[in-house]
Amino acid sequence: MNRRELIKGLGLGAASLPFLSVNLKANPLHSDWKGTFTDDKVKDEGFWKKFKKDYYDVSKNFINLENGFFGVQPVPVYQAYLKNIERLNKDSSKYLRTEYGKDLKAIMKQLAAFSGVSDEELLITRNATEAMNIIINGLDLKAGDEVILHKQDYYSMIEAFEMLEKQKGIKIKVIRIPLVPKSDKEILDKYEAAVTEKTKCILVTHMIHLTGQIMPVEKIADAFKPKGIDVIVDAAHSFAQIDYNLSDLNCDFVGVNLHKWFGNPLGAGLLYVKKDRIKDLQPMFGDSSKAEDDIRRLGHFGTLSVPIVMTIPDAKDFNDMVTIPLKEKRLRYLQNYWTKEASGIPKVNVTTPASDPKRSCAIASFAIEGMKTENVISGLLEKHNVFTVIRHLEDQDVVRVTPNLYNNTGEMDVLLEGIKDLAAG
Ligand SMILES: Cc1ncc(COP(=O)(O)O)c(C=O)c1O
Repeated sequence: MNRRELIKGLGLGAASLPFLSVNLKANPLHSDWKGTFTDDKVKDEGFWKKFKKDYYDVSKNFINLENGFFGVQPVPVYQAYLKNIERLNKDSSKYLRTEYGKDLKAIMKQLAAFSGVSDEELLITRNATEAMNIIINGLDLKAGDEVILHKQDYYSMIEAFEMLEKQKGIKIKVIRIPLVPKSDKEILDKYEAAVTEKTKCILVTHMIHLTGQIMPVEKIADAFKPKGIDVIVDAAHSFAQIDYNLSDLNCDFVGVNLHKWFGNPLGAGLLYVKKDRIKDLQPMFGDSSKAEDDIRRLGHFGTLSVPIVMTIPDAKDFNDMVTIPLKEKRLRYLQNYWTKEASGIPKVNVTTPASDPKRSCAIASFAIEGMKTENVISGLLEKHNVFTVIRHLEDQDVVRVTPNLYNNTGEMDVLLEGIKDLAAG
């Protein structure tokens, strides 16, 4: 059954779709596709073309290579979201008072299964920034305590620590890590050089938003947790893009969002706190009633957007069908496809450890020597119809390129033509 047949079968458009409870059975369309996401498909453009036709309804007016901001919802997820909005508006507080609690429990179990941790260690937030702020503000940091940040951490997390610097007198140390590290040891040595007996916390961005570099989080945790240092992880980009369980990171505190690579509607994130560390975070939002090891005591922020939460099972179904290992391989293939050729173009510098599969996946960035990055961005869009984004990377600006599953190598060829054209001046 293809998408058109499916939608026809259900009635035309969201308004006439029958209500289905959350925790939907997998979308019927998935049964045609399930089991087909095998390694031999990674380079099979025909397969991905059909996949895009069935699952994505994206603009034909431009090539979107800025999927790092948020992930376009696949059609079944978008349809479920519309149904959930409609259902909530019709059933109103009766649904919230009588059924939502049970549904939410099931959703938490699904998220737990997807992320490889217990549902008692997860809390749905509005986004990754909120999840990270609950960690950063919740840690018991005092005047003189030192925290280590990386120059390329996400600015919101850096600002959260800067606020604590002003409010509490903590000390921030910022390290720099090479754009293309020679080894994990080179990275670990940078942290080692910054650690003192006053270091209480290291923030690590699992996948750096500026370059796509993947940090060896587990090794950083193994090296510094035994010294009593908390390693807190911003996994906004790695979650549901690369294949790992949250528990693999060996870190007690992780913030994630669900609207990037997981493909949920915009406005959902996830906080992970290891069960025996929940008691070590002070709630940001007043709570005096929950047990100290109940993660919900950290989430007393009021009502979330319920239809967004209700849609999580559909986004999970989609990811389960594609399988994260194959998603990771295909996204890395698309990235390698353009970065390999781009690095050979005169004046083009790729600022990502692109060829090392353990250090990068979908995201990569580049700059053209002697050309302002904003002009590269506008040239790509105006002359080649390719949408990318400028990112400020330490002392230079770069063009960030982020394909999603609906992109293909033909579109990467258009990008490469654009880069060649602009680099040739
Ligand atoms: C590394 C990183 N962390 C956190 C965020 C913030 O995510 P959210 O907007 O869900 O809070 C982003 C967003 O781009 C990001 O790239």
